[in-house]
Amino acid sequence: MSAGRFPAYRSRRLRRTDALRRLVRETRLSVEQLVQPLFVVPGRGVERSVGSMPGVAQLSVDRTVEECRRLADVGVPAVLLFGIPERKDARASGATDPDGIIPSALRAIREAVPGLLLLTDVCLCEYTDHGHCGVIRDGDVDNDPTLDLLAAEALAHARAGADIVAPSDMMDGRVGAIRRALDAAGLTHVAIMSYAAKLASAFYGPFREAAESAPQFGNRRSYQMDAANGDEALREVALDIEEGADIVMVKPAMPCLDIIRRVKARFGYPVAAYQVSGEYAMVKAAAARGWLDEAQVVEESLLAIRRAGADVIITYFARDVARGLRRP
Ligand code: PBG
Repeated sequence: MSAGRFPAYRSRRLRRTDALRRLVRETRLSVEQLVQPLFVVPGRGVERSVGSMPGVAQLSVDRTVEECRRLADVGVPAVLLFGIPERKDARASGATDPDGIIPSALRAIREAVPGLLLLTDVCLCEYTDHGHCGVIRDGDVDNDPTLDLLAAEALAHARAGADIVAPSDMMDGRVGAIRRALDAAGLTHVAIMSYAAKLASAFYGPFREAAESAPQFGNRRSYQMDAANGDEALREVALDIEEGADIVMVKPAMPCLDIIRRVKARFGYPVAAYQVSGEYAMVKAAAARGWLDEAQVVEESLLAIRRAGADVIITYFARDVARGLRRP
């Protein structure tokens, strides 16, 4: 394929009007591809805003149900649920409790908003008192004992009605452990969206306020990937696919456009990209100062993520985009 030559070829000919530009657009963004993350907390009537994420709030189950109704009304097809338990302990008991915060939310949403797709984050960091994504031994997360807890957590979510479980812990072997547990329980229809290439990223900062999940010592670099590695990201994705992942996620999104592209090209699997809390906070902060046009920057960044190859985008802007924040 080669472009024609000037003056026979003039790129500007197809940029003359909005209608022409739209006609030949290569990449489109549809609300059908967006997932809205929500933070569920104990209590009733609770709506606590998250300081570093303007427009995002922790919601109790009743308020989460109301929010889900609004999301479904504007066409958002899916939510990704994060739970903050009543009590945290070293072994993340709240995570595997069949009547815990996420199972309760799932049952309530399923009843009130039957058509909404329910995704759940499967991880221990919101449930451990030390804030790490697994059980600790000798000052580090112990991989294999953590797998049993993650499988039990995924099972609790699936039994309560999750359509897709999304392990975000980055333990080795967790996708296989979860798939085996789901299948053994007859839940073969529940899909796994693995956080396959998840970098150890400073862009998760605001999330840890929203999920109350900051590590109380150290950091997550012994389990999340080094941000410098693209080839390793492909190995991580390959492993998750072999273990049974149905959708593979790359995270964070804009700092990983190259990885999104490579994963899509190499595997041809459904690829999700997570536009994370820090990406959201940067846009919000600049927009609040009048330094950026929020609607345009959001559209441009989501289009870039799509252009890179993502099929699904998890974004805190999902509701706003669906409400028509976008302007032509
Ligand atoms: C849990 C988890 C995190 C995010 C999603 N699941 C935080 C982390 O790994 O510390 C980050 C999402 C965001 O920043 O929006 N492990």
